[in-house]
Amino acid sequence: MVPCFAVWHASSIRVRGWLQRRGSGVLLPFAGAGGLLKYQDLKVSALIDPVRGAGKSSTNVSTQRSELMKKLNNKVVVITGAGSGIGRALAKELAARGCRLALSDVNETGLRETAELCDASEIRTYRLDVSDRDGIYAHADQVAKDFGVVNMVINNAGVALSASVREMTDEDFKWVMDIDFWGVTHGSRAFLPHLIASGDGHLVNISSVFGLIGVPKQSAYNAAKFAVRGFTEALRQEMKLEKQPVAVSCVHPGGIRTNIANSARMGKSENAEAQRKGFDKIAVTTPEKAARTIVKGILKDESRILVGPDAWGIDVINRVLGSAYQPLVERFSRKNLYL
Ligand SMILES: NC(=O)c1ccc[n+]([C@@H]2O[C@H](COP(=O)([O-])OP(=O)(O)OC[C@H]3O[C@@H](n4cnc5c(N)ncnc54)[C@H](O)[C@@H]3O)[C@@H](O)[C@H]2O)c1
Repeated sequence: MVPCFAVWHASSIRVRGWLQRRGSGVLLPFAGAGGLLKYQDLKVSALIDPVRGAGKSSTNVSTQRSELMKKLNNKVVVITGAGSGIGRALAKELAARGCRLALSDVNETGLRETAELCDASEIRTYRLDVSDRDGIYAHADQVAKDFGVVNMVINNAGVALSASVREMTDEDFKWVMDIDFWGVTHGSRAFLPHLIASGDGHLVNISSVFGLIGVPKQSAYNAAKFAVRGFTEALRQEMKLEKQPVAVSCVHPGGIRTNIANSARMGKSENAEAQRKGFDKIAVTTPEKAARTIVKGILKDESRILVGPDAWGIDVINRVLGSAYQPLVERFSRKNLYL
């Protein structure tokens, strides 16, 4: 993970500084060039805090906030990988907003701790391995039976692997794909009928900034996260075309200070200790801040939810440079990886 976080860090500081110096209107030419950026995406204020940055009076802001709270109140939310990190922070944030929670993880100790930290009106925990396809389908039916409805599913469970294409084993590659890709797609397909039946559903799939750019030694993780993004973006359009009552969002976090580096597998030649220390230094966003950003994005029905200044930086670089971002990543990787 380390090389890419180093890239995020460096790029985000530069791009963010540049954005802040130049102001919000300045990126409009890129909208023309890339055809992808929306004006609202470009507001620097939104980059920092969409609600606070919008220049609204405090009364308007609090009215807006209470409207948002109402939207989530009493909703049944499923979160996979809720025993740690982003999943745990999302559980706490959504509990505080009145949601009823169905939390799952393979780590039952972590899951119990999360449940204790959540002040929710209703909360149930389930042991679920998201790489088990039949287990996910059974889980979806069980949750629907337990709660009577499912309004939101957040496919969050994930793992990381740092190994070159030449060095990684088939087993490690499969491990990443089974959890990070198949876990998300089975989770989406198993819960989709329940989300549609709710009449007011939202599917949220966690990708990564590595679903936006390729990075050396992250090929397996890149493959899974790019695939999650493609799957999720296609599904969002299908739901709209079919006029189904299900919103779909894809989340791309930058470096978030969680346990992901501790549970990551490494190639034989990797210095695991150095990588983990490096990750701790440059993962700039807390899980709590990430959860607030994700929930705001959900409430605004954003198609792509970017989490952290580094994610914004990488997104801009990707849109502006297209595939020419690669020599840039290569340069940083050479410095941080191969020397
Ligand atoms: N932390 C980051 O910098 C970062 C950046 C981009 C994307 N993400 C993504 O965010 C998501 C959450 O990761 P995190 O950073 O909170 O990591 P984390 O390690 O703190 O939490 C991940 C959770 O997933 C669970 N999990 C692992 N394998 C599982 C399986 N087979 N079935 C069910 N649960 C399983 C773990 O037990 C853990 O509780 C992942 O999809 C990750 O790829 C994280």
